[in-house]
Amino acid sequence: MTSETLWYANRATGAVCLILFTVVVLLGIAVRLRTKIPGLPRFGTVSLHRTLSLSATVFLVLHIAAAVIDGYVDITLLDAVVPFVSDYQPLWLGLGTVAFDLMLAVLVTSLLRARLGHRTWRAVHWLAYASWPIALVHGIGIGTDTGADWMTWLTVSCVAAVLAAFGIRTAHAARAARRTPTALLRTPERPLEGARS
Ligand code: HEM
Repeated sequence: MTSETLWYANRATGAVCLILFTVVVLLGIAVRLRTKIPGLPRFGTVSLHRTLSLSATVFLVLHIAAAVIDGYVDITLLDAVVPFVSDYQPLWLGLGTVAFDLMLAVLVTSLLRARLGHRTWRAVHWLAYASWPIALVHGIGIGTDTGADWMTWLTVSCVAAVLAAFGIRTAHAARAARRTPTALLRTPERPLEGARS
């Protein structure tokens, strides 16, 4: 495989990773909100979320492999795992590495979920929210296609979709928090501290 092919492969898989990880984040929020996706049974959202996150990880491994194997720029396997040590674009590449490490932590804890317990799994799973914007900034900072019309549209669409879903998720959590004290006040066997006379 020529260096040019590897470079195209690296860019193409980068764009695919951005799309897949965006859909994974959206599906994760849909699972949390128990959203039923039309045409799928309720458990279908969970299965799709899981399957797509594994597919996204496969593309991410290809993305990294293409960058490491391509000898045109010097990116080592260590650079792909340890952030900010690369000679090539240390900041932008380092952000990709941080995103990769966080996603790896999310993936491994998800595979070991039964052993870890729900609390630990959930705490680590929050990292998925952090890794998505970090990966996005990595792509914008280092990508050859940054500024190309198709990449701008892709980036803007992904950001808009995640912001909208995050907004819905936050509004949902705020509504639930507002409802909880009222619900507790109405439950005589579990009065609130402040409600006791
Ligand atoms: C979740 C993690 C990551 C995501 C979502 C991601 C995504 C992207 C995207 C969208 C681009 C822009 C592609 C383009 O302009 O066409 C890109 C570029 C790039 N990524 Fe990543 N990346 C991730 C992690 C990594 C890691 C760990 C490495 C380390 C080897 C890496 C190496 C590169 C390189 C070298 C480029 C520049 C390609 C070019 O010359 O245009 N990425 N990435």
